[in-house]
Amino acid sequence: MNLKDLYIDFFVRKGHKQIPSAPVVPENDPSVLFNTAGMQPLIPYLMGEQHPYGTRLVDVQKCIRTNDLENIGDTYHHTFFEMLGNWSLGDYFKEESINYSFEFLTKVLNIPIEKLGVTIFKGNDLIPKDEETKKIWLSLGIKEERIKETEIDNFWIAGETGPCGPDTEIFYFRSDEEIPEYFDPEDTRWVEIWNNVFMQYKKDETGIHELPKKNVDTGMGVERVVAILEGVNDNYESSIWKSTIKLLEQITGLSYYGNERSMRIIADHIRTAVFISADPTGIKPSNTDQGYILRRLIRGAIRHAKNLNIDNNTDWEQLLAKNIINEYKKYYKELEENEQVVLDVLKNEKIKFNRTLEKGLKEFEKIINNLKDNKLDKDNAFKLYDTYGFPIELTEELAHEKNISVDKEGFKEKFKAHQELSRKGSEEKFKGGLASRGEQETKYHTATHLLNAALKQVVGDYVHQKGSNITTERMRFDFSCDHKLTEEEKQKVEDLVNKWIKEDLKVTKEEMDKETALKSGAECMFIERYPDIVTVYSIGNVSKELCGGPHVTHTSVLGTFKIIKEEASSSGVRRIKAILN
Ligand code: ALA
Repeated sequence: MNLKDLYIDFFVRKGHKQIPSAPVVPENDPSVLFNTAGMQPLIPYLMGEQHPYGTRLVDVQKCIRTNDLENIGDTYHHTFFEMLGNWSLGDYFKEESINYSFEFLTKVLNIPIEKLGVTIFKGNDLIPKDEETKKIWLSLGIKEERIKETEIDNFWIAGETGPCGPDTEIFYFRSDEEIPEYFDPEDTRWVEIWNNVFMQYKKDETGIHELPKKNVDTGMGVERVVAILEGVNDNYESSIWKSTIKLLEQITGLSYYGNERSMRIIADHIRTAVFISADPTGIKPSNTDQGYILRRLIRGAIRHAKNLNIDNNTDWEQLLAKNIINEYKKYYKELEENEQVVLDVLKNEKIKFNRTLEKGLKEFEKIINNLKDNKLDKDNAFKLYDTYGFPIELTEELAHEKNISVDKEGFKEKFKAHQELSRKGSEEKFKGGLASRGEQETKYHTATHLLNAALKQVVGDYVHQKGSNITTERMRFDFSCDHKLTEEEKQKVEDLVNKWIKEDLKVTKEEMDKETALKSGAECMFIERYPDIVTVYSIGNVSKELCGGPHVTHTSVLGTFKIIKEEASSSGVRRIKAILN
């Protein structure tokens, strides 16, 4: 059995229910572009809502972290990775959680206890030291010297607000050298393999508060632990990447050794691009949000394919994508279902980038023909990067052949300023996430259901929700529809929603089995993603949807609904932006 199966099997035996991985692109959560941890889709339940699967959960979650895209190419960074996690929603707490982790590591994975070190929360002005956790580790035979108290690293929260708490991180000594007596988390031979967070608090703008229930949230990175278990120091040498790297060696006719960086980047970026484009949310390469990340990843891979002299007119990226789909389809059936979509996304983006590559080369010729001295300035270098997708290294290479130097420092400054802007953009996104889903977001969420119902009545029963995105300022709603809405249709939809708001319809919530819910005509976006027992929200008798909530209790609090824009989103999908006043 592999690590994923062992993990799930172990926790199922301990009374946990396996839940399916949520999509990589979060629904109804404008705070993040991608799920970055297993707990992200579970935030409402960690905050106190009842989970339909019960109080003990286990899963493998698809995660994407893009904050260190620049680091990809080393031995252990990946943009996409899988996170194993087990949760207690007000069920067990520290004692059982730590015991489970210890048993899994030492009895199932057979890791010798001498190779383990742990950190615990040292305490601060607000929250006391986690003595209990320390005692539990000691009772299991972890020596005092292998327990390290730290403050900052041992309090876990995703972003700025939301469920949080002290944690205990488990480290593994990944080296053939003699294990030092004292565990030092700063010593890079010790690598973190598992994090158990004791989520008993929530943080909001006013401070830290106790949650109604004490939860456990844990996370273990699959790539890292598999590499450790297989005794390799380069994650890309583990069984996870074996077939991909081998295929890259065949495509290029080169050895991995000596070409590690480019091969790792290609492997990593294509895998992530496959998972993003196979996601049910249907992300396509674009210049904003998730679409922009997808574009950067594919272009990055193409750029490095060029470094390895891969002919971009061949189907190299199709071969790699098919291989990845094959490797992962057992766990994620959307990969197989959307295989053609994935292959088309990759091919189309490659064709597009090949076009700007050519144009960029022409622009480059023009720039150097107009140079007054032998220096290519920062503005032109940045233009080549920004407009034509030329990495600075490529510009430098081309310039070098003509004995021209490039103002790389100046470019870096411009690049940094540009990054700073986009970083600010993504931090903005983080504020006010699902974790802090406030009154306004809840209102918009209920308005989404009303809009969905109104569209069905006005446009036709074939209309279905394709996506949504909510901020405190507005709602965005994507739906299947074969035409641009007429002014009359828009007005009718708006009037209908406002009529329902005025009628002060009651919002009710009930639990039922999935079959019954569907038979009763409840709307649902991705049926396969729901468990057997589902929550159904009804608004008067105008709307019925499978949904995790939260919602307002009466529609009159929504105020006035106004459509501010109706536009195409993608083929056969329209998008409405609307506000509540
Ligand atoms: N949510 C915790 C983490 O990602 C387990 O480390």
